[in-house]
Amino acid sequence: MTERVNAAQLQAWNGDNGRAWVTLQPVLDQTLKPFEDLIVDSVAAAAEPCARILDLGCGTGATTLALAERVGGLCTGIDISEPMIELARTRARERQLSVDFIIGDAQAFSFPAQTFDVLVSRFGVMFFDDPIAAFGNLRRATRPGGRLTFVCWRHPKDNPFMTTAERASAHLLPDLKPVIAGSPGPVAFADPDRTRSVLSAGGWTGIDIRPVDVTCTMPEHDLLPYLTQMGSVGRALRTVDTQTRAEVIAALHEAYSEFVVDGEVRYPAACWMVEARG
Ligand SMILES: C[S@@+](CC[C@H](N)C(=O)[O-])C[C@H]1O[C@@H](n2cnc3c(N)ncnc32)[C@H](O)[C@@H]1O
Repeated sequence: MTERVNAAQLQAWNGDNGRAWVTLQPVLDQTLKPFEDLIVDSVAAAAEPCARILDLGCGTGATTLALAERVGGLCTGIDISEPMIELARTRARERQLSVDFIIGDAQAFSFPAQTFDVLVSRFGVMFFDDPIAAFGNLRRATRPGGRLTFVCWRHPKDNPFMTTAERASAHLLPDLKPVIAGSPGPVAFADPDRTRSVLSAGGWTGIDIRPVDVTCTMPEHDLLPYLTQMGSVGRALRTVDTQTRAEVIAALHEAYSEFVVDGEVRYPAACWMVEARG
């Protein structure tokens, strides 16, 4: 029997990761809003047709819904996570938006050929176990000359908000699995040379990769729920005893105080904005 592609990601995003993103949807959408705006502004500003838009790894749908509201056309979101797509569909119904949400693996899904004018993603294309196959599949789904626009994280060393939790709790959580640049996960495309060669091998042209630095925010009261449910520390906390959990929370509280000003968390986010042509 052949093994299913992206089996580990399928399990994670239909399990703990997906649950955390559903629970924290309002917090995550607020803190990642600058990236939604970057993508929507870039699509809205294009002087070319964008009648069919596909949002890759759309999650709970923020970017897809914003595109449907601001750009219009036929917007589709695809995601491997059933619980996240369920929430995306509920949000579309509540906002009375006609958007198509597909539960599927963007790497392997049989899209109709040469269909989409624009493909976008906010942090949803870094999890493929075979990114060349995935971007090849996505290019075949794009009309000739169509556009790909996505944001992804730069290196963890440029994103202290991302790494402080691991550093602060490493002595309490010795089995922590840190994120590794270049592996499927949030920093798979930290190295722009790798991204360029993956896209080019997938058949994309006109590849443009530029750094974007934005300040993200969240209310202070959302910080601990965020830190205790997200990333490798959030995962590790699901299985520790009460005493260790309390110690980790104290360490996180202390370590993240540098990001809190007047009841608000503010942190620099170092990302790449990647654009290409099909
Ligand atoms: C970091 S989250 C971003 C979600 C959403 N784009 C947002 O900004 O709120 C990554 C998303 O990629 C999805 N994902 C991971 N691997 C995928 C795959 N092979 N095909 C489709 N979606 C995938 C996950 O389920 C998750 O929703």
